[in-house]
Amino acid sequence: MRGFVLGVFVTLVIIVGSAYLLLRSGKVSLATTAEPLPLEKELVQLTLDANVRSAKDKTNPLPETDENMLAAAKEFKEHCVFCHGAPGRLRPPLATMMMPKPPQLFDKDNMVTDDPEGEIFWIISNGIRLSGMPGFGDHLEEKERWQIAMLLKHADKLPAAVQAELERKEPREMAMHVKPGEEHEPERGQMHEHKHEPAHATEHVQESPHEHEH
Ligand code: HEC
Repeated sequence: MRGFVLGVFVTLVIIVGSAYLLLRSGKVSLATTAEPLPLEKELVQLTLDANVRSAKDKTNPLPETDENMLAAAKEFKEHCVFCHGAPGRLRPPLATMMMPKPPQLFDKDNMVTDDPEGEIFWIISNGIRLSGMPGFGDHLEEKERWQIAMLLKHADKLPAAVQAELERKEPREMAMHVKPGEEHEPERGQMHEHKHEPAHATEHVQESPHEHEH
């Protein structure tokens, strides 16, 4: 019996020790350009599903009106568009610079129209840790978060006025865009180089013909 217990203990020490050494070695890349780790996507999805499940049955307390969705379209352009894109725009650079990539919530294959509105509301309110998706619980009113959940739920059948509002660009929106399909891989070390350049260097990047919106 003592031998068995010792065996289990030694095995555990070896497993934990190997994991520690592997992580310390730097071979597990946290670069946004690296492939996902084995089972990373599956484990995150499993955890996220379990998190949002409790919100599944929460229904939107607001009436489904153009007015609510119009308000949401304005909020979306202010807080979400530079990651999640919107109709009538070129794809925002952040859509490809992050890992996981922010889904383009108005692209057919990325829409969340099949998800319960309560779950969308949960994600907007709480965010998703370690992904870059911010939690807006303290930043947007509860009503505004429900309005945006309503907008995303109806992304495939938006009233014309809401669609037009989403397409209408705000003057302050970033001019820096990448064309759909023209995914650009940020060069390794790019961020680091810019840190040491004068402020106008950033403007220069935005104005390069490759990324400029036409
Ligand atoms: C800084 C970039 C960023 C901003 C700003 C941002 N998000 Fe996200 N969002 C992400 C990323 C990255 C993910 C993917 C997370 C993942 O896959 O785990 C995400 C995921 C989501 C999802 C889940 C999509 C799905 O397929 O389940 C929803 C819904 C969402 N965001 C809504 C919003 C809304 C609404 C706003 C604005 C109020 C917003 N996000 C602002 C980066 C962002």
